Amino acid sequence: MMILSSVKPFGTPVMNLIRKRKSVRTYKKVAISPEDQDGIRKFLAGLPKPPFGTQVRFQWMAPGQDDAQMLKGLGTYGFIKNPAGYMAGACERSEKGLQDFGYLMETVVLHLTGLGIGTCWLGGTFTKSRFSERMKATEQEWIPAVVSAGYPAEKARIFDSWVRKGAGSDKRKPWSELFFRIDFTRSLDPGGAGPFSDALEAVRLAPSASNRQPWRILLSDGGDLHFFLQRSSGYEKKTKWAGMLDLQQADMGIAMSHFELQAREAGLSGSWVAQAPGIAPVPEQKQYVITWKPR
Ligand SMILES: Cc1cc2nc3c(=O)[nH]c(=O)nc-3n(C[C@H](O)[C@H](O)[C@H](O)COP(=O)(O)O)c2cc1C
Repeated sequence: MMILSSVKPFGTPVMNLIRKRKSVRTYKKVAISPEDQDGIRKFLAGLPKPPFGTQVRFQWMAPGQDDAQMLKGLGTYGFIKNPAGYMAGACERSEKGLQDFGYLMETVVLHLTGLGIGTCWLGGTFTKSRFSERMKATEQEWIPAVVSAGYPAEKARIFDSWVRKGAGSDKRKPWSELFFRIDFTRSLDPGGAGPFSDALEAVRLAPSASNRQPWRILLSDGGDLHFFLQRSSGYEKKTKWAGMLDLQQADMGIAMSHFELQAREAGLSGSWVAQAPGIAPVPEQKQYVITWKPR
């Protein structure tokens, strides 16, 4: 499997960007500067192959005159004000496609954060929207989410703080609920995670749809880190009903990118392999996704 080895994109410790990134929903009414646009273009051109090797493509879209209301009717729960543009992406219509999409899009989000550009992931039903028309998405592609972007307004609206409160955005689950060793009955603390404590903390700070934080990671005796998706009850039914894609698969890709970027920056090499741990039975509502195998 390919790895994120060629990306040294940030010029600043990636953990700083991970800590700095928060969803920004109100922007200054200014366009992205030509230098920053140039930087974004170059960054997109240099994106690595994602872990599962599926095809993902991105397109930066400045809203045109006729489509100031590009998000209208798309059911995104946070109302977005004055975006300077959107990063849209299309992926293969599969679980792996959604994971690869999350992984690469989040790498782009961190790059934008480094440029001082605020972002907000927006999940919705984009596959049949104006975004899809602009991207010329094919029948084989999904547009699972877009990211709104712009320089953050000095003062966020009260509305934004309601959205943050509604989603509990400032809270993250404690380590004891997210990370485990050997099986899911024993939790892992930063001391037990040894060199991986920062990479796991980077996962804990990741954004996720409705801030559900569905990532669970199991450190095996041999030192492999197994990534699982914890299904929220009723989530699949609800999203299907709303005509939305399984964004928790994209959440997993986001977690993988935070983990790998921090691990590599700390000089820890490894690769993604499909090698589920031999725990039986896998607890209910947990889906095995991928393993990070240190070298
Ligand atoms: C896949 C995905 C979809 C999201 N969809 C929306 C959305 O439609 N509207 C919105 O306002 N925020 C959306 N968010 C932002 C989350 O609510 C936010 O990341 C979470 O509450 C944590 O807050 P933070 O990003 O400020 O750390 C989404 C995030 C992810 C990762």
